[in-house]
Amino acid sequence: MIRVLRHPSSVPAYRPDIYSRSAILDPYPHYRAMRELGPVVWLTHHRLYALPRYSECKATLRDDDLFLSGHGVAANPLINRLSRGTTLNSDGADHDRRRKLVAHRMMPRALRTLGDAVDDQARSIVEQAVSRKTVDAVADLATSLPLAIVPDLVGWPSDQRAHLLDWAAATFDILGPANLQSIKALPRSLHMLRFARRVVRERNVLPGSMAHELLTAVDEGSLAVEEVPPLLIDYIAPSLDTTISAISSAVYLFATHPEQWELLKGDPSLIPNAINEVVRYESPLRAFTRKTARASVIADVGLPAGARVLVLYASANRDEREWDAPDVFDIRNDAGRQVGFGSGAHACAGQGLARLETTAMLKALIERVDRIEVAAEPTWGINNIIHRHDRLPIRLVAA
Ligand code: HEM
Repeated sequence: MIRVLRHPSSVPAYRPDIYSRSAILDPYPHYRAMRELGPVVWLTHHRLYALPRYSECKATLRDDDLFLSGHGVAANPLINRLSRGTTLNSDGADHDRRRKLVAHRMMPRALRTLGDAVDDQARSIVEQAVSRKTVDAVADLATSLPLAIVPDLVGWPSDQRAHLLDWAAATFDILGPANLQSIKALPRSLHMLRFARRVVRERNVLPGSMAHELLTAVDEGSLAVEEVPPLLIDYIAPSLDTTISAISSAVYLFATHPEQWELLKGDPSLIPNAINEVVRYESPLRAFTRKTARASVIADVGLPAGARVLVLYASANRDEREWDAPDVFDIRNDAGRQVGFGSGAHACAGQGLARLETTAMLKALIERVDRIEVAAEPTWGINNIIHRHDRLPIRLVAA
């Protein structure tokens, strides 16, 4: 059978800027409008082919031979030229080698040793929050755990953590298009890279940590020293805001869906699926790009070699073609196939840790809290990539 391909110039165009402040604050109507236009949509503003539907996003993520990450995953040509040397921005054997260097530390077996300590930390964070009248679920619940765990795991010097959150958020922001938002973030992200280089130069890392293991590999001659700073950034940068997003969205969703909270409290074995449902419903990462290695076909659209394709995880996770009631939050949904952690070769290397932290927080909340109430209107952060609350005032009513 001969397939008639559509020329890229006939792809429907979407004119609004999906990275504008208002679209960042309320992205879902844009995602819906793009999905309705078709499987491939030309973003006039950013000169990208966007994939708003689930099936094309998943297929693209799984074909890493055709849809490359090594030329960068940002929607921004300048950043794509600068950001080389990370696991996220590499392909094939190079990617496998980088991933093997560190990812074993994030596997369930390696994380098992952390389990009790994380549970204890989560309990004490919740205990403190319960003792106060109103707390900010972002600063007082969601941030404490990732910030207490990942920098130690990576080996970041203990006295140099004041800027980590800000630098990490900036490192996501610059992966958006070349808008004012990413231009403003660039100096802070470069600061993080320079600082990581200094940490490596001065060998100022925690003993037994990931950084320590990488420096040992340098001493043994199996790794070049200049590869270490990007690898540290690789793990520290995506480990904070993403998990903060998942935990604070979970708190908000359970506060505003008390019947779902009752369900979870009645059956804590629903926690793993509840985490999938939170990540599906409020995907912490909006989108990354790929570059086509050669002429390719997505749905019925023929794309040239070197085209930039935007994979919209957050839109795929609300695609009405894939989900029966995509805009309903229900922890009994079959949410395991959500793509909020990506899919294929580049699927999130830290998801075991993110799930461990979010599970610990939900378990601690279930044990100690009867009801979660929203105390004031929450606000959302402005970031090209990260979708998370900025402030979320809540009251925890003790059990
Ligand atoms: C809820 C929390 C998290 C979410 C939603 C999330 C999401 C994602 C997504 C969508 C990707 C795929 C990127 C792509 O397709 O190009 C990814 C990759 C990655 N994530 Fe996460 N992430 C989370 C937490 C973490 C944590 C805690 C860490 C580290 C401790 C981490 C480290 C990484 C790394 C290293 C990669 C690159 C993997 C590769 O390219 O092979 N992430 N993450």
